[in-house]
Amino acid sequence: MKTYTLISNIKSIVGILDKNILLKKGAEMGVLNAIENAYLIIENNCIFGFGKMEDLSNAVQNITISKEINANYGMLLPAFVDSHTHIVFAKWREEEFEMRIKGKSYEQIATAGGGILNSAKKLQSMSEDELFIKALERLHQVIKQGTGAIEIKSGYGLTVADELKMLRVIAQLKNAVPIPIKATFLGAHAFPTEFKQNRKGYIDLIINEMLPNVAQENLADYFDVFCDQGFYTVEETDMLLNAAAKYNLKAKIHANELGYTGGVQIGVKHKALSVDHLEYTGQEEIDCLLNSNTMPVGLPNCSFFLGIPYMPARKMIDAGLPVCLASDYNPGSSPNGRMGFVVSLACTQMKLTPEEAINATTINGAYAIELSETHGSITIGKKGNLIITKPVSSLAFIPYNFGNDCVESVLINGIEF
Ligand code: NIG
Ligand code: FE
Repeated sequence: MKTYTLISNIKSIVGILDKNILLKKGAEMGVLNAIENAYLIIENNCIFGFGKMEDLSNAVQNITISKEINANYGMLLPAFVDSHTHIVFAKWREEEFEMRIKGKSYEQIATAGGGILNSAKKLQSMSEDELFIKALERLHQVIKQGTGAIEIKSGYGLTVADELKMLRVIAQLKNAVPIPIKATFLGAHAFPTEFKQNRKGYIDLIINEMLPNVAQENLADYFDVFCDQGFYTVEETDMLLNAAAKYNLKAKIHANELGYTGGVQIGVKHKALSVDHLEYTGQEEIDCLLNSNTMPVGLPNCSFFLGIPYMPARKMIDAGLPVCLASDYNPGSSPNGRMGFVVSLACTQMKLTPEEAINATTINGAYAIELSETHGSITIGKKGNLIITKPVSSLAFIPYNFGNDCVESVLINGIEF
């Protein structure tokens, strides 16, 4: 039996896209197709049709609407796709926040055993069940804020047992919420203290013990390495990505957050699906990305929160590149997963137009986790993962009114969440 949900009185449907377009780059990023004064119909859980309110009676002639949602002249947008998060973690790290206020840098805190190692210590002593409950709570919160698909990384385990524990939590989350989740194995997030003098030993552990187990239990969709100053070198990253490729795990790597390290180049060499952070991106990195299918992903929350440079997204789009933006939700560098704030930072700090910022957080986010055939735009046949905003005067009002929530309701598979 087919069921139909009607969303009526929409001020503007924004983000309409042809089904063959799987990402947006360069000048195309500034285009966000819209219909004013519109309706949209969902059949079961997918977008069935949309058009002008004046044509509604024609559109519903041969179907029975079982539910009507009055948008009350709010806008309708595709739900955000957050392609980079670390939402499985044990505890917040506000003590490091205070250290940074007093002058210590993110790298200094990490070198002194804080940062990722601090999160690992906390996670290792927490049960799978407790981790699941905490992550589920965060996940519910971000869905309510408009996230309709998400990627989640491991990387706070740093032992065979704890990395597997994290990935099993992500597997449980996949069954617990109605949005799609992609799992990324990030065993190479830091070097555990006991391997500080034996980096090769930990890399061998990842390659010979973690990876085979992760693959055998089918716990990961992607593979990540923190390739950066003070973390994994380009050579180490190369070795790890070669090992992951043997298990058909595509790469999505952390790169160029702390310096011009060659991370972008090594990611592109391995045909990474995305290279993320990119606060340090120059002409060489731009040229390298232009010759690839790799999506550059900026994480403006992290720049805002750590006080480091922003990825030069304006320059990258002007050079013809696609740009994706994600929350990086994690307890160290981005303790917030609200994608609406990412959109505001994109506009105020990265000088993207509201249209570019929406494309960066919807269709390009979907591309970065291989979901753009089903998510990330208003397209017939795609999932009904949608945001209805409060009545707003224009698209620009959404990022302009930063920190406030223009989200009135969120539909996942056509059902109000
Ligand atoms: O994307 N930069 C590396 N990893 C995370 C932060 C991890 C942490 O500080 O806990 C990031 O910013
Ligand atoms: Fe990250």
